[in-house]
Amino acid sequence: MFADRVLSGMRPTGSLHLGHYHGVLKNWVRMQHEMECLFFVADWHALTTHYDNPQVIEQSVWDMVVDWLAAGVDPAHSTLFIQSKVPEHAELHLLLSMITPLGWLERMPTYKDQQEKLSSKDLSTYGFLGYPLLMSADVLIYRATQVPVGEDQVPHIEFTRELARRFNHIYGRELGFEEKALAAVKKLGSKKAKLYAEMRVRYQEQGDDGALETAKSLLDEQQSLSHGDRERLFGYLEGGGKMILSEPQSMLTVASKMPGLDGQKMSKSYNNTIALREDEVSVGKKIRTMPTDPARIRRTDPGDPSRCPVWQLHQVYSNEATKQWAMQGCKSAGIGCIECKQPVIDSVLEEQRPMRERAQLYLDDPTLVRNIIADGCEKARKLAGETMRDVREAMGLSYS
Ligand code: TRP
Ligand code: SF4
Repeated sequence: MFADRVLSGMRPTGSLHLGHYHGVLKNWVRMQHEMECLFFVADWHALTTHYDNPQVIEQSVWDMVVDWLAAGVDPAHSTLFIQSKVPEHAELHLLLSMITPLGWLERMPTYKDQQEKLSSKDLSTYGFLGYPLLMSADVLIYRATQVPVGEDQVPHIEFTRELARRFNHIYGRELGFEEKALAAVKKLGSKKAKLYAEMRVRYQEQGDDGALETAKSLLDEQQSLSHGDRERLFGYLEGGGKMILSEPQSMLTVASKMPGLDGQKMSKSYNNTIALREDEVSVGKKIRTMPTDPARIRRTDPGDPSRCPVWQLHQVYSNEATKQWAMQGCKSAGIGCIECKQPVIDSVLEEQRPMRERAQLYLDDPTLVRNIIADGCEKARKLAGETMRDVREAMGLSYS
């Protein structure tokens, strides 16, 4: 088993393009072999901004899952599910809302930014304000340790950490915590108990993060601990109460500089995208009609690659030799723009070929996709259920 658990979500608001592939999906595909991964379709999140147009969401959900599978996200290695099929997210969102200071949400940079950016929509809604809280619930319900996000989402993860701390502080107290924690330490066996105690002191007195990690991995290896003892021991390491919700780390995905057809960042809103599984004829046509160096009017005019969006695609898709060829050919007017574009077209098509093939399998038999998601939802619900049991108990809602 992996020590880290990764969780990430994507909003289903349209079909995915090569910018998503280079910026996010390649990363997911790599991580699924290194860590336990959960990836979900954030359909409720999409409703926070697209509440007046839910058809877009409905259409995008399955397309997006096929895009993930096409990109190489492998259901044998990662758990794929749909947020709204795990209603526990909503329950945790509600329970966390009780302890979430309004100011924390109002101060989120994305709140004002997005309201201004999407000013055509009325986003002064409760759901939109609560968006980061819903995201916190997504993360905390799986006790995810790592959350891959873009730069704009990092404050949401910081908020999630603060919220987890606040939750543990309020609900992690119990009568006789210290005694119970000490009794739990004994259950580790004398050798491990000693190591645990030493690491705890080293962390608490000297702030030694390495010691904290050592103690945590020691606890991770203890299969036989009861759930309550485990929470106590994790909590006792760092402070005075049980650790019911664990604090995630954000994994900053290096901002993809995937250029679009016009040289700006590839983005649906700039209308400059190539879809992940765009058909071959259309890919060729889009690239052949791409703008080039505006000063290169005639074939005989030398060009300047640094002013040409095609050159940017060469940076992503071409090897050194090809780049050299394009650079020199352009500057000397030795090649024409159509010629220069051909290797880019070839590379994009080559990159997409396995994606198209994998997708075809799922398009031919949609029940495969339905089954992958059904399995994933079941796994996710089981994990979410475990956390919710602890949360309900901590908040006095078990009534058993
Ligand atoms: N808010 C994310 C975005 O807009 C999507 C998302 C929702 C998410 N819940 C999440 C990402 C939890 C990571 C973890 O891209
Ligand atoms: Fe752009 Fe290539 Fe034409 Fe130069 S030759 S302007 S780099 S497309």
